[in-house]
Amino acid sequence: MLLKFPSFLLLLHLLLLLKLVASSPTEELNFTINGFSGANLTLDGVATVSSHGLLILTNNIVEQKGHAFHPSHLCFCRNHSDGSIPSFSTTFAFAIVPEFTNLGGNGLAFVITPSTDFSEAQPAQFLGLFNRSSNGRATNHVVAIELDTVLNVEFQDINNNHVGIDINGMRSNESSAAGYYADDTGELRNLTLISGKAMQVWVDYDGVDSMLNITLSPINEIGTPTTKPTKPLMSFTVNISAVLLDLPVHVGFSSATGSMTSSHYVLGWSFAMGVGHVQALPLDYSKLPTIPRLNLKRHRSRALGLWLAVASLVFVLLVTFVAFAAARWWSKYAELREDWEVEFGPHRFSYRDLFRATNGFGERELLGVGGFGRVYRGTLPNSGAEVAVKRVSHESRQGMREFVAEIASIGRLRHRNVVQLLGYCRRKGELLLVYDFVPNGSLDKYLHYGRAHKPALGWSQRFRIVKGVAAGLLYLHEEWEQVVVHRDIKASNVLLDSEMNAKLGDFGLARLYDHGINPHTTHVVGTMGYLSPELVRSGRATTATDVFAFGVFILEVACGRRPVEELAVGPQGEQLMLVDWVIENWREGSILDTVDAGLGGEYAREEAEMVLKLGLMCSHPHPEARPSMRLVVQYLEGRAALPELSPDYLYFRNLSLGYNEGFDDFVISYPSSVPSASIFSGEK
Ligand SMILES: *[C@@H]1O[C@H](CO)[C@@H](O)[C@H](O)[C@H]1NC(C)=O
Ligand SMILES: *[C@@H]1O[C@H](CO)[C@@H](O)[C@H](O)[C@H]1NC(C)=O
Ligand SMILES: *[C@@H]1O[C@H](CO)[C@@H](O)[C@H](O)[C@H]1NC(C)=O
Ligand SMILES: *[C@@H]1O[C@H](CO)[C@@H](O)[C@H](O)[C@H]1NC(C)=O
Ligand SMILES: *[C@@H]1O[C@H](CO)[C@@H](O)[C@H](O)[C@H]1NC(C)=O
Ligand SMILES: *[C@@H]1O[C@H](CO)[C@@H](O)[C@H](O)[C@H]1NC(C)=O
Ligand SMILES: *[C@@H]1O[C@H](CO)[C@@H](O)[C@H](O)[C@H]1NC(C)=O
Ligand SMILES: *[C@@H]1O[C@H](CO)[C@@H](O)[C@H](O)[C@H]1NC(C)=O
Ligand SMILES: *[C@@H]1O[C@H](CO)[C@@H](O)[C@H](O)[C@H]1NC(C)=O
Ligand SMILES: *[C@@H]1O[C@H](CO)[C@@H](O)[C@H](O)[C@H]1NC(C)=O
Repeated sequence: MLLKFPSFLLLLHLLLLLKLVASSPTEELNFTINGFSGANLTLDGVATVSSHGLLILTNNIVEQKGHAFHPSHLCFCRNHSDGSIPSFSTTFAFAIVPEFTNLGGNGLAFVITPSTDFSEAQPAQFLGLFNRSSNGRATNHVVAIELDTVLNVEFQDINNNHVGIDINGMRSNESSAAGYYADDTGELRNLTLISGKAMQVWVDYDGVDSMLNITLSPINEIGTPTTKPTKPLMSFTVNISAVLLDLPVHVGFSSATGSMTSSHYVLGWSFAMGVGHVQALPLDYSKLPTIPRLNLKRHRSRALGLWLAVASLVFVLLVTFVAFAAARWWSKYAELREDWEVEFGPHRFSYRDLFRATNGFGERELLGVGGFGRVYRGTLPNSGAEVAVKRVSHESRQGMREFVAEIASIGRLRHRNVVQLLGYCRRKGELLLVYDFVPNGSLDKYLHYGRAHKPALGWSQRFRIVKGVAAGLLYLHEEWEQVVVHRDIKASNVLLDSEMNAKLGDFGLARLYDHGINPHTTHVVGTMGYLSPELVRSGRATTATDVFAFGVFILEVACGRRPVEELAVGPQGEQLMLVDWVIENWREGSILDTVDAGLGGEYAREEAEMVLKLGLMCSHPHPEARPSMRLVVQYLEGRAALPELSPDYLYFRNLSLGYNEGFDDFVISYPSSVPSASIFSGEK
């Protein structure tokens, strides 16, 4: 049996090093751990056991992993004579204490895994279990029950507070918002995982009917027993023997933090495995360790705690009074500042500094008015650095924390083709974003307005801009630590520095407007003409929807035309869909006729043809047909040849249908200020 395990020798070696005795995998094992003092667990990463028996999987340090496994080898092996699979039952008490109220990440998971070496796994959204390349592979043989506190669009998470069943990857096979069915009324009651309160999970697997049940419940108070709700939160049918392939496995926990952090604690754990119906022994609640209180880092005596509470109350009152007086004095510099922002201190600018930098947001410093607000030029009083300050009006506080957390992580993006975000400031009903100043302004001015005054951009400049934007987008999609979806690629969001290098700006801003009041409506945020059909339909921005917008953008650069243009001639209201027009010309063998006439015929024919065809390929109606940004960069750099395409490959006639289909959703969900419906019609 053991010799079937490929890395058995390696594992044995490791176990000997750890001075553990390798035993043959067992199909029966029962244990109950009420507080982890002295428990035999294999820990790694930042995981530790505190002196009073709390298993601390992660603390409040960013981008960390922590694991804890029971040393026993188990086997969910199929009985070859009667085909039965062992059952198991486990329950554990846990608590997730975010560093600041309502802002934490990423989660913890109960894991069944053949390997306990997670050194190559990534933290954050991968919960310390997988990395980008191993995620989703059947060769992982991992079953995890995740308690996930961050919404990852990438893995189609349902929200930022859910329980999920993850088989071999982070895209949950089944998930459910955190909650439980109350035994008295039968209603589903919500739970907030990052409330800092103790909760309990039961995972029950029946090897006969292959049913995996997950149940969650609050623990009302440490010390008082909690009864398991009768109706599980979720049930999922899975042949666990087919996933684990009879390999010897370990059971335990994995947890990770990302750019947002929480302390993930396990208080007690009980496990039972055997043939037929098994039930883990209940926890002894009187023996469970207590959870450290929010923001109270060290354990203190009660009396001292009381004094501290009184002292801090007095202090808070004093500070409030002083702050109030100061706020009146400086009413014109008033800002909005909340507790949870402490973490983002380094990214915070004072309104006073920004006010001075921009000469009181004077009209003379106004650089432009965009979809999201007015942009001013400024010079910071202390450093003398030139900045651009964007004032975004935003009444709702919904989503603001997540957004500020994102700003803080976006502030760490560094790429020559990405505009550097320096920080932010908040006022009542308003958010101010501070960027590096990019002197030559936005590209659309050069493409669409500048004709009368300036010569059109030359082809070589255009080609360099296209390559620069592609490089910036590749960085956001694939090269940074997290996948950043830009969501609003268009000529007016591409800025030019003094050497006419392109820099992508304004990413993520669309996100702020993405949090609908009603979770059932989707707010599609983006710009008309750059929205892919599936984005319009589902409201879900992905790297593929960015590639679509990039395709439209490079057609715009090559043709010097907007994605949707009103036709000067013909019946009123008739529009030219740039994509359809380029396809039409291609079909007729005159694709180069679409290149901007302003260039006076001076352009590299091969490059222009490649850019046009690549633009069409990227804006293909089917997301799977679009290339990744890595491939796009290879085409543009001439390191890969564009595949032979035919105009029919793109089926743009059918796309028109797609637009119309998608349009209904779009109208329903979009704020009422949106232009008329006809823009999406592909009819000529
Ligand atoms: C831990 O393991 C050691 C040696 O395997 C054993 O002596 C000890 O009793 C174990 N402790 C617990 C709490 O199981
Ligand atoms: C397999 O099943 C048979 C028949 O039910 C039983 O006698 C035998 O003990 C089982 N073997 C194991 C290893 O559980
Ligand atoms: C991902 O993890 C696997 C092991 O799970 C490892 O072999 C591989 O090198 C890792 N890949 C990266 C890119 O870290
Ligand atoms: C779980 O989902 C993955 C893809 O996310 C799929 O490959 C796998 O077959 C699913 N497993 C089960 C048992 O449904
Ligand atoms: C429970 O959570 C769900 C999903 O997050 C939400 O739709 C529902 O309104 C919540 N119910 C209550 C009573 O808060
Ligand atoms: C799972 O839940 C279903 C429905 O409540 C129940 O019939 C079944 O016995 C449960 N199975 C286990 C292993 O708890
Ligand atoms: C479970 O999977 C194993 C291995 O793939 C297979 O031999 C067995 O028949 C399956 N059992 C059930 C109940 O589907
Ligand atoms: C574990 O508990 C189950 C019942 O929950 C029992 O059937 C089994 O014999 C126990 N196994 C051991 C090794 O104690
Ligand atoms: C771009 O900026 C530089 C320096 O600010 C300036 O010299 C140059 O003329 C600008 N180019 C265009 C096309 O406006
Ligand atoms: C697209 O439409 C044309 C005719 O309008 C049809 O012949 C073709 O099969 C359609 N293609 C797809 C992929 O639906």
